[in-house]
Amino acid sequence: MPRYSRSLIILHWAMALLILAAWLTSVGGRQVRLNPPLLHFSLGLSVLLLVLPRLVARWWGSQPRIEDPQGPWLNLAAKIGHAVLYLFMIGLPLTGWYAASRMGIGVSLFGLSLPAIVASAQGAPGPVAEIHETGGTIILVLAGLHSVIALWHQFVLRDGMMQRMNPV
Ligand code: HEM
Ligand code: HEM
Repeated sequence: MPRYSRSLIILHWAMALLILAAWLTSVGGRQVRLNPPLLHFSLGLSVLLLVLPRLVARWWGSQPRIEDPQGPWLNLAAKIGHAVLYLFMIGLPLTGWYAASRMGIGVSLFGLSLPAIVASAQGAPGPVAEIHETGGTIILVLAGLHSVIALWHQFVLRDGMMQRMNPV
């Protein structure tokens, strides 16, 4: 079974953990302004930082072709599913950064202060913050579905597909 490159495998699992940790450390409502979740910001920004080298490694390095014997539609579905996950890995941290900036909350990456990406505004956090909150839940649902499909391959189809992402 061909595998993803070592760097892609490490990035895949590191980022899966970071996304889960970002979700677990997220807070909403008044609490965000009273006690900004700096760990949430750092974990989420790490996803943004790592997605770029991951995409570069994906385009320039070797990676196994997705060839599901069950047909071209499933191949296409897998590719679209992966692309959507990539979109969330970029869009979520950016909308979060925007939301924090608009609320006038300082954003930092493990202590390193980052600039605001939009001017702060009084009042409600705005639609981007709502998109971020909903997106934060959607990515978890999508990743859950994605891992159920992987487990389906492993334990029902028994086609060894999980081997492609095996870190050891
Ligand atoms: C327990 C959780 C997870 C399991 C068991 C899992 C398993 C896998 C496996 C086996 C593959 C290889 C698929 C193939 O080559 O056809 C894969 C690829 C992928 N996974 Fe996951 N994954 C998990 C979590 C996540 C999370 C949280 C994300 C991001 C939100 C993610 C994003 C991706 C992407 C984008 C690919 C395609 C790789 C590429 O083309 O760069 N995975 N995953
Ligand atoms: C993968 C990355 C991320 C995930 C999965 C994620 C997830 C979430 C979730 C689920 C919420 C809603 C929490 C609740 O209402 O209880 C939330 C809120 C928030 N997140 Fe993130 N987030 C990520 C990255 C970021 C980043 C990078 C920043 C800022 C630099 C950020 C800033 C915020 C802010 C300011 C809120 C509060 C929004 C409001 O109350 O209107 N997030 N995040």
